[in-house]
Amino acid sequence: MTAVPRERRPPTLDDPVDFAGVRLRNRLYRAPVLECAGNDDDAVDRLIADLEPAAAAGAGLIHQGATIVTGEGGCAAPGMTRVHDPDFVAGLARLTDAVHAHGSRIAIQLEHGGLRSMEVWHDAYGRANPDRHQLAVSRPPRVLRALDRLGFLDLSPRVMTTAEVESLVDDFARAAARAVDAGYDAIHIAGANMGIVQQFLSPFYNRREDRFGIDPAVGPDGTPGVGVAFLERLAEAIRDRAGDVPLLTKIPSERPTLPGIGPYLSDNDAVAACERLAGTEGPFDAVVPVRTSVFWDMSVVRGAFPASAWRDERFRDGFREAFGSLPRAAAVAAGNWIESFVYDREPGWNRDLCRRVRHRVDAPVLCEGGLRDRAQLDDALARDADLVGMARPFYAEPELPARLLGAGAEPEARAVCADCNNCAIAQAAGESGVCRTPAVLRAAGELRRQGAYDRNGAGDGRDAGTGDSL
Ligand SMILES: Cc1cc2nc3c(=O)[nH]c(=O)nc-3n(C[C@H](O)[C@H](O)[C@H](O)COP(=O)(O)O)c2cc1C
Ligand code: SF4
Repeated sequence: MTAVPRERRPPTLDDPVDFAGVRLRNRLYRAPVLECAGNDDDAVDRLIADLEPAAAAGAGLIHQGATIVTGEGGCAAPGMTRVHDPDFVAGLARLTDAVHAHGSRIAIQLEHGGLRSMEVWHDAYGRANPDRHQLAVSRPPRVLRALDRLGFLDLSPRVMTTAEVESLVDDFARAAARAVDAGYDAIHIAGANMGIVQQFLSPFYNRREDRFGIDPAVGPDGTPGVGVAFLERLAEAIRDRAGDVPLLTKIPSERPTLPGIGPYLSDNDAVAACERLAGTEGPFDAVVPVRTSVFWDMSVVRGAFPASAWRDERFRDGFREAFGSLPRAAAVAAGNWIESFVYDREPGWNRDLCRRVRHRVDAPVLCEGGLRDRAQLDDALARDADLVGMARPFYAEPELPARLLGAGAEPEARAVCADCNNCAIAQAAGESGVCRTPAVLRAAGELRRQGAYDRNGAGDGRDAGTGDSL
């Protein structure tokens, strides 16, 4: 990407923008959240039902939730969609057509769980797949091995040879090429949900000595560095197979969850990784810097303790299957409760990190995490990022953009999502990706009755005006 000057006046949510050559009608995006369509009889119908409303309501860019690039293994959660099958991916053209018909753009997110794969933590799935090995970047960190010995995890790692890493790269690249053929506008690599890409990036997981190891030159002096080589190789392979498609990735800044755990990626490491990957010579067209953990905990989805989901009788069997017994599910819930205090829930908790990255790279910076109202979104665009997004609020209000964008938008408009995380935890029990909080759904229903989602003055995007280029 060549460096281009930033806009002279701060953009607002309604301003169109060119995103690596792809025109977006505004700067609001749906962040990737799992639809859990993988077990549906017709996953494409389900994805259309989930994602088309956001397009019809005016979203500039829609990120589909993470999809798994291999035919077996690698699923981090129940019901994830796989994209190894050419016929299935070709069928996703119905989804991209539906989104395009409303003037939105759509990115697919590609992932592999690695050590976060389901058989490691999901009791029933692990029993049903006793011979499954997880692709591992290196021997698992000591704390994961301890959890394995204590029976909280069931690790059976296979540390990849260099040739096996290349084979995984090829799985990503082939999935990307198929997605481009099916009409996706951009490829998003899932880099910060504790899956295999983060495991390559993080010195907590990556102790490889081949060319996919940690690069000490990326990161501040005195720290191990960042393992950017896997992402660089992915970008190269995707471009070889899929052509010059816009590429973006989340980049993690990690927290250790428990004191004394490490090494982990700091904010400084994350900024350095963004510079390397999306700087003038970098292969990525955009980055999404986000704060995560080295563990698969609630750091990415900060919010309240999801008490009512844990207590919901309808999910009880699912929790028992996932965690092996109800007492063990209660132990996980207790950890969940502690996390709700550990993680700072300041609205827009990634904004300062995005701002630092934005000062260092010319490529678009996407910001998400606890952004909830129009004023916050505009302020983040003025100071911290080039596009702004929301995830959980789209579960509660699939047509949310209609309230935030265009001539009809209320200046005080705010998503109704209560950050209670009932949606997130229910997915461990195999439930689909929808809002699970009756009061919030009632609030959205009331807005619907009042016609709040019909006031879409955001245009159809086919003539998006004179926005700036990034
Ligand atoms: C249930 C759930 C599923 C998610 N799935 C993904 C995913 O597939 N890929 C990803 O990169 N992030 C995923 N996220 C993280 C979101 O993209 C987003 O970063 C996070 O929820 C914070 O944004 P929010 O406060 O607007 O929800 C998920 C979040 C939730 C709650
Ligand atoms: S359950 Fe509903 S209100 Fe709660 S975080 Fe999820 S989407 Fe938001």
